[in-house]
Amino acid sequence: MPTWTPNAQALDQIVLILAGTLSSDTNVRLQATNALEKARQETDFDNYLLHILINGQSLESQVRASAGLMLKNDLIKNLQSKSEDLKSHILQEIPKGLLDSQNLVRNITGNVITTLFSIFGVRQWPNILPNLMELASGAAGTAESQEGAMSALLKICEDSARLLDREYNGERPVNFMVPQFIELTGSPNPKVKASAIGCINQILTIKSQSMFIHLDDFMARLFGLATDEDSNVRTKVCTAFASILEERPDKLMPHLDGVINYCIHSMGDSNEEVALEACEFLLNLATSDMPETIVKSKIPILIPVLLEKMVYSEMNVFLIENSDEQENENVEDKDDDIKPQMAKGKEAHKLASKNTTNNEQEEDSDDSDDEDDIDGSMEWNLRKCSAATMDILATNYPYEVLEVSLPIIRERIVSPQWPIREASILALGAIAEGCLDQASAELPSLIPFLVERLKDSETRVRQITCWTLGRYSSWVCSEALSGGSCANYFAPTFQSIMECALDTKKVVQESACSSLADFIDSAQPELLTEFVEPLLRHFQAYFKKYQRKNLIILYDTVQTFAEKVGDQLCYKPDYIEILLPPLIEKWQQLTDNDKDLWPLLECMSSVAAALGESFAPYAVPVYERAFRILAMSIEQARLSNDNPGFEAPEKDFIVTSLDLIDGLVQGLKQHSAQLIQQFDTNEVSLMKLVIYCFDDPTDDVRQSAYALLGDFAIFLMEPLVVPHLHQVMVCIGNEVTNRTFRSSAACNNAVWALGEMCLRLSADIFKQYIANFMNVLIPLLLSTDVEQTILDNTSITIGRMGVHNAADMGPYVPQVLVTWCSFMKYLEENDEKETSFEGMCNIITTNPTSLNPHDVSGRMAIKHFIDCIAYYEAPSNRLGSKLHLLLSGFKSGLGDAEWNALLSELDPFVGEILKMKYGV
Ligand SMILES: *[C@@H]1O[C@H](CO)[C@@H](O)[C@H](O)[C@H]1NC(C)=O
Ligand SMILES: *[C@@H]1O[C@H](CO)[C@@H](O)[C@H](O)[C@H]1NC(C)=O
Ligand SMILES: *[C@@H]1O[C@H](CO)[C@@H](O)[C@H](O)[C@H]1NC(C)=O
Ligand SMILES: *[C@@H]1O[C@H](CO)[C@@H](O)[C@H](O)[C@H]1NC(C)=O
Repeated sequence: MPTWTPNAQALDQIVLILAGTLSSDTNVRLQATNALEKARQETDFDNYLLHILINGQSLESQVRASAGLMLKNDLIKNLQSKSEDLKSHILQEIPKGLLDSQNLVRNITGNVITTLFSIFGVRQWPNILPNLMELASGAAGTAESQEGAMSALLKICEDSARLLDREYNGERPVNFMVPQFIELTGSPNPKVKASAIGCINQILTIKSQSMFIHLDDFMARLFGLATDEDSNVRTKVCTAFASILEERPDKLMPHLDGVINYCIHSMGDSNEEVALEACEFLLNLATSDMPETIVKSKIPILIPVLLEKMVYSEMNVFLIENSDEQENENVEDKDDDIKPQMAKGKEAHKLASKNTTNNEQEEDSDDSDDEDDIDGSMEWNLRKCSAATMDILATNYPYEVLEVSLPIIRERIVSPQWPIREASILALGAIAEGCLDQASAELPSLIPFLVERLKDSETRVRQITCWTLGRYSSWVCSEALSGGSCANYFAPTFQSIMECALDTKKVVQESACSSLADFIDSAQPELLTEFVEPLLRHFQAYFKKYQRKNLIILYDTVQTFAEKVGDQLCYKPDYIEILLPPLIEKWQQLTDNDKDLWPLLECMSSVAAALGESFAPYAVPVYERAFRILAMSIEQARLSNDNPGFEAPEKDFIVTSLDLIDGLVQGLKQHSAQLIQQFDTNEVSLMKLVIYCFDDPTDDVRQSAYALLGDFAIFLMEPLVVPHLHQVMVCIGNEVTNRTFRSSAACNNAVWALGEMCLRLSADIFKQYIANFMNVLIPLLLSTDVEQTILDNTSITIGRMGVHNAADMGPYVPQVLVTWCSFMKYLEENDEKETSFEGMCNIITTNPTSLNPHDVSGRMAIKHFIDCIAYYEAPSNRLGSKLHLLLSGFKSGLGDAEWNALLSELDPFVGEILKMKYGV
């Protein structure tokens, strides 16, 4: 390969430009940026960047670093267009940067290497791992280059550990790397030591066999390093214990007692990172399958430590007091104050949900009861980890946790020092779910005490008290509903929280407003009746008071409220007059591309659905805007598809506007046709937009689009769906065929929508689709890896297809009936089940030969079906008479003797029920 040499003049020029881009003078920067765009056109620009990074010893490190980053970004973006020569030149030269004397250059080089490795991998860059390992061993280079290599290796392990555990020419990189990493944990250099443990921790998480065979050796090293002077090393040791607990608990078992003690002790480490990692271990322990007796035996020493660490640190207290003093509810929120919005599958920020960005496999599927975070900040820290550990321990060992914690909490909850008071109230909230039964004797005194604390002079005490009360909301509500001894707690508690949401501190408003949502969610609608009007008035006041961030919480609370007591609102113009104007006012203040619109659109959707006809006066402008946002976002998506330079829209605009339109359709029912058609044109109609959404690659978009289709089918089948029927059918078919784990909610809605459609189509029209759909629905029904709701909805839809097309469905009975029964049997009795059953009765009546009682499988299917009928408690009269006919038909077809023989093979209760209800 010809070696490349820079042209001195060009080099100077580029260095100048790079320096210019770093200038503090805007004009200089602007000029430099323009010049840079030109320079980029030169074919060997990358060579210059590389040269400046690697060989620019006389230059400022900032300039060299900036060349390195530019090189990296250019390679990521334009790799396809680079010549092979250039690529191999770069791969060969780049490691030299690790030997540089400048820290920043080594660091950036490590960064570039890591990125290149993730692109080229071992196969196209075979030297790099041996090179880095050689440098890391310290055999060549300086202590700094050793650290640089280790830190690049750590990044590689973090980003691409799986690549290291594959075979390349019969060799797995991990095989030579792991023993060397273990060796390096004995390095005298603490940075090298810490990185080496870090690398092994990453390799542990991919369950590499090559790692496991050295695990004993590694663990022996860990015990030696547990008391290392360097806090980074101690942090990594704690992480290592947590990884071993996760991946190979059997190996940890013999040492468990000592490791637990070590981690409890390390929670008191003067370094917060060490303490946090130690706490992570204990949190994992609490959720692990380790023997209960061991964990239980640690509770008496663990709980006091957790309680201690739930207290805000001195540093935090200082910062908090400072900011609370200055904070003013009239100060506008900045963008940074607002959590990133997600319209669907809102990342529930619960007590026990830690930051799992590195953990894609771990699907966060917990139900989203407590979405509110304990202190409204996103950062995961020792305090939250301690509270989460307490929560899990309380769930698994309620009695032991309560016994140890309650006396301490009781004592500390009245402390004159607010951080201690605050942490004790947090602890009460943390154990709420786990210890509810065990604590029931305490609650009658605790709840009034907490309500009292809503008036605490300290902001943070009021804030946490709202949260903790929210955690007890279901208890307070169920006492009220069941008329228990604390039935009268609900009203004053609810009232106090409602008032607390008017606090002058934003953090208290926020916490109170979410707590209010917890209570509304937990309460039976009748419990809220007396509060509907006061709530509406308070909402009105909150809308006036709140800044952006708390408004978003408020939309959510209003949404919960509308869903819960919607029927107490509609037809009450007075109420609607209080609720809607502030919503509409906010709605008008936000521009179409403001992300704050998302929660508001979702809120509006629920309000529109709940208010029904009463929403009509507001419907036109609301619909018009939702339609406009939808059309605009889809147009943008279309443009960005065809033109990579065009910025793609945020899909949540599509999702939330679809949902809002769905809310309007649910509320206005058939009447929404007029609303919709008045804005449709030949080019852009709502149905066409929805059909476009069926092809969107984002699952959430299709999920909302099919939900809307289902409601179209129910209310607007003729005017909206029928004209596009064929296209819609094809899309549904694709959705089911292309189903993946992630798209299951979209698939479910598509199947459900199909069921709603076939109820409203004539037999002639639907007939032609049956064979194709059954081709995809039968495998879906019989699959073992899908969620229950999909199986249920598939059963419902298959049954419904028999309502009009009984004759065409006959051939499928033998394949589906047994499975169909197994799902239908336990379904809630509602219209979905009713129509599906009716369809199945039609199918069997119309195709009597589809079930042959004289062959084994036919007889089995009949038994299941009969069993399923017996379980149907309250069929409508219409369905009841169909069932009666069907059963009589079975009985007379079989003859009494056979019939009785068949019944005798079922639960005796089945025969009795059938005799009683259907006289057979
Ligand atoms: C570069 O330095 C930063 C900050 O010190 C560090 O977090 C990062 O891991 C370093 N990266 C590499 C590849 O050395
Ligand atoms: C999670 O951690 C990553 C990196 O450590 C950080 O970038 C991200 O902001 C964190 N997310 C949350 C929700 O704390
Ligand atoms: C889904 O299936 C259809 C038809 O088979 C195909 O055209 C489409 O590309 C598929 N979509 C995805 C995301 O696989
Ligand atoms: C079927 O899907 C619809 C739409 O998502 C949903 O509302 C319904 O509850 C589901 N039915 C069952 C039985 O899961």
